[in-house]
Amino acid sequence: MNKNLELIKKAENKHDLYRDEIIELLKDGYCNEELFKAADRVRKEYVGDEVHLRGLIEFSNICKRNCMYCGLRRSNKNVKRYRLTPDEIIDLAKKAVGYGYKTVVMQSGEDEYYTVEKLKYIITNIKKMDIAITLSIGEKTMEEYKAYKEAGADRYLIRIETTDKKLYEDMDPGMSYEDRKRCLKALGSLGYEVGTGCLVGLPGQSIESLADDILFFKEIGADMIGLGPFIPNEDTPLAKEKGGDFNMSLKVMAIIRLLMPDTNIPATTAMETINKNGRIIALQSGANVVMPNITEGEYRKLYALYPGKICTGDTPDHCRGCITEKIKSIGRTVSESKGFRIHRCS
Ligand code: 5AD
Ligand code: SF4
Ligand code: FES
Repeated sequence: MNKNLELIKKAENKHDLYRDEIIELLKDGYCNEELFKAADRVRKEYVGDEVHLRGLIEFSNICKRNCMYCGLRRSNKNVKRYRLTPDEIIDLAKKAVGYGYKTVVMQSGEDEYYTVEKLKYIITNIKKMDIAITLSIGEKTMEEYKAYKEAGADRYLIRIETTDKKLYEDMDPGMSYEDRKRCLKALGSLGYEVGTGCLVGLPGQSIESLADDILFFKEIGADMIGLGPFIPNEDTPLAKEKGGDFNMSLKVMAIIRLLMPDTNIPATTAMETINKNGRIIALQSGANVVMPNITEGEYRKLYALYPGKICTGDTPDHCRGCITEKIKSIGRTVSESKGFRIHRCS
């Protein structure tokens, strides 16, 4: 049998691979289908056929950071900035409950307008609706993370973006890789479900460092891992760079599923942006979560991390129906639960 097919088998059975083996699989162009099928089997065995939907509220596109790849970076003057008031955010969460969501994800740039007091007000009011709350609002202090947790936040997403320290610090000027890791650690120690992830195909990113990303996720025992291809944005310094590859993103995702069988893995919007069936393909290659957008009106378009973002002209109601149909069409079901990670392996 082909050596790499054996590696896939080993990963499927033992949920473990050495760095060199991961690199081997990422470089291999022939065993992709087998890899995706194995990830799909492991997904089915450990997290089942249910797909967890998380309603995404993009509540502010104002950001004090300047990440090279991102359209919301502070130096970008070509995007009209907006922020929703606390009550508007609570209102969107209420609508999310109406659409049947059991989790909302509150995402924004790093916007200091939302003080701890404001966030506590938002979180406690949404919590009254008996849904899970995920925050995705960037780097904060331990005290701030603690305050949000005490107010009722359940999960926190903060991608490491890349574990190549030099690349990280080149891509995110003024930010420190060590600080990023400290945030992840702090969140874990406070009892959050911790979500992280990476970009695939950043300029100068090596296959080896993608293998390190995968091993990092396993090492910290991440509860959610979201990743997608880097998509060049016209309004950023990386405008002329080559974007990430769909298949490579899918392979990284599939290997993560093999090595971390019971973690939650979203089929991301960026995947669908570069492949028109990207989320469904991802759901059939290891993913078990989708995060439909529940932001309303022109704000969807203004939350312009990268170009070509899907669903910018659609309503929350439409997206909810659309994704439900797609999930059913591949024989899967929409989960009725809050979708916390259930530990099934040691
Ligand atoms: N292409 C793909 N993903 C991007 N993100 C930001 N900019 C881009 C881009 N140009 C991702 C980052 C961030 C998440 C919210 O969006 O990984 O963590
Ligand atoms: Fe801000 Fe996040 Fe974009 Fe970086 S990736 S510029 S922190 S919104
Ligand atoms: Fe938004 Fe399909 S999920 S249009």
